[in-house]
Formats: sequence, C-alpha cells, structure tokens
Amino acid sequence: MGKGAVFRMEEKNYGHKPVLLQECLEALAIRPDGLYVDGTLGRAGHAREVLPRLKTGRLIGIDRDAAAIAAAGERLAEFGDRAVLVRGNFSALGEILRDLGIDGADGMLFDLGVSSPQLDEPSRGFSYMRDAPLDMRMDAGAPLDAREIVNTWSFEELRRILYTYGEERFAPQIARAMVRRRQEGPIETTGELVEVIRSAMPPQALREKQHPAKRTFQAIRIAVNGELEALPPMLEAAVQGLRPGGRLAVITFHSLEDRLVKQTLREMASGCTCPPEFPVCVCGKKPRLRLITRKPITAGPAELEDNPRSRSAKLRVAERTEYP
Ligand SMILES: C[S@@+](CC[C@H](N)C(=O)[O-])C[C@H]1O[C@@H](n2cnc3c(N)ncnc32)[C@H](O)[C@@H]1O
Repeated sequence: MGKGAVFRMEEKNYGHKPVLLQECLEALAIRPDGLYVDGTLGRAGHAREVLPRLKTGRLIGIDRDAAAIAAAGERLAEFGDRAVLVRGNFSALGEILRDLGIDGADGMLFDLGVSSPQLDEPSRGFSYMRDAPLDMRMDAGAPLDAREIVNTWSFEELRRILYTYGEERFAPQIARAMVRRRQEGPIETTGELVEVIRSAMPPQALREKQHPAKRTFQAIRIAVNGELEALPPMLEAAVQGLRPGGRLAVITFHSLEDRLVKQTLREMASGCTCPPEFPVCVCGKKPRLRLITRKPITAGPAELEDNPRSRSAKLRVAERTEYP
C-alpha cells in the first residue's frame, strides 16, 4: 500500500491533516528522553508523530474538546502511559502542568483554532456550509454559545466583534440586520444566520470569491470560545514551563492571533528596555526567549496543494533562554 493510501485511510478515520507537520517536528528539536506538551491535541495529528520519536520521554496532550480527547486517546493507545491526555483549556496551562507535577518541558506545540472534524460535524454549528443549531463551542459544556451571542448581544457589541475579530467591512450593516431579524423571533440555525448576513450585504460583495458569511462566522467563533483571551496566559505559562533550551512552536491561522503571538514572543525575546542614553542598564530585564524564526514559516507548494487549510497557517518558533 502506497503512502497516499495510508494517509487517505487515516483521513477517513480521523478527519484532520496536521499542518506544517515536518516543520513542527524540526522546530521542537525532539530529544528521545524529553517531555513535550501538545496544547491543542485535536485528533493527535502532530502528537502521533512526536511520540514515536521518544524513547523514555512523554507527551502531555491537552484539548478543551471532549470528542477530540476521546478520538486522540484511541489513536495514541499504543503509546500507553507515555501519552498523558488532559481535557482542559490551555489558558490554564500553568495549573495543568502543576497538577501533573511537571517542573519543566523540552518543547510545547500550539496549533491554534478549530480542527477539521469540529468544522465538519454539522451538529457543532461551526460551518456556514451546513445548516445546524447555532453553537460553535469547542468545549460543549461551556456556558456561552453562538445562539446567545447572536440573539442577546447589543448592536454595538455585535458590530465590535464582527469588525475586530472578523475584519468584516460590513460589520455595522450585518449587526443591524441581526438585531432587526431577531425582533421577529430568535435566530436559531447557521442557515438562518447566513441568510441574515446575505441580506445585509450589497450585491457586489455577494459575488466575491470568499463566502459572504466567512468573516462573521470567524468573529462569532472567536468570541464564543474566548480565543484571543486564552493566548496571553498560555504564552506566559508556556515560557515559564519550558526548560532552558526548550522550544515553543505556535501555529496561527488569522492575522489577529498571529499579531498577538508575534508581539508577545518579540517582547519576551527582548532584553534591557533602558533608554539608549543610560550609561548602564538599570531595568535588569533579560530575554527569556531567543527567536528561532524572525519571519513565520508557511506551507510549501506540495502542502498547499494537498491541504487547503494550510494556506493561512503561520508557524513561529522560539527557544527558552536560561534567564528567569
Ligand atoms: C487545529 S486543531 C489541532 C489539530 C491537531 N494538531 C492535529 O493535527 O490533529 C486545534 C485544537 O485545539 C483545541 N483548542 C483550541 N483552543 C483551545 C484552548 N484554549 N484550550 C484547549 N484546546 C484548545 C480545539 O478544540 C482543537 O481540537
């Protein structure tokens, strides 16, 4: 059986192609006795390739989605207790590592956003391509869902998230259409929401290549899951949790999260902040990271052809210094 056939079989079973896989494995500079954290385990596409490279080492896999943990558990069963899976939000990474008694990791990977199985499962309500109840929660037990946002948030809050999280230029028109439409009764399904979005956009915008609901759905998903709020505590805990020389690899899929990751890593990689006219440093700030990638790594032509999802992926890598 050729390599392609094996991959197609895995796709059928697990439904998610890991992006920038080879690049991530190189970025993590895996040691056979090391301890690695995959903070966005998903269907274990990356973890499944890290584990065979470990001899005595271990991998901690974290995901907030119970369905992902269950599927990854099955897929990683052959690695026994060398794979430890935790259902949780990576915003609590510090606590999760503390509870496991881990005092230092050699590498951490975060492949942000949603997985293909989450998008493809109609009942999760992530996709504008399938009609389903408005949900979009990665953690099915979380209190806030898309239905609540769409039906109860004010015009101003809706406009703000569509504009800032979706970079949607018709944010005011779409937010106004939602508020008007829900006066007739709640907007219950993704299909109804798509219709409201379409009704608010001018005809020429509806003819653009990108689906008219793409940006609005992205914005609502980010708000439902608090995606941007989870990043700063995760990055701080990751850097604190790495041993000197340990690697941090983060894959982002849109400009908002990429900007946040880029700026945070740069800030952590910068040393003294004293004004240049000071003869000696008085701030004492030392770089906690060394940037391995100045520009993000992106997918090559073969991956772009094989996996359209890789189009917007950007991988940034940094290494922990010895400074506290
Ligand atoms: C892009 S997928 C990861 C796919 C995985 N690398 C693979 O190749 O199978 C992102 C995963 O991260 C999870 N996730 C996103 N934000 C999270 C957070 N704040 N805490 C924990 N898991 C999160 C999602 O539930 C999803 O399963």
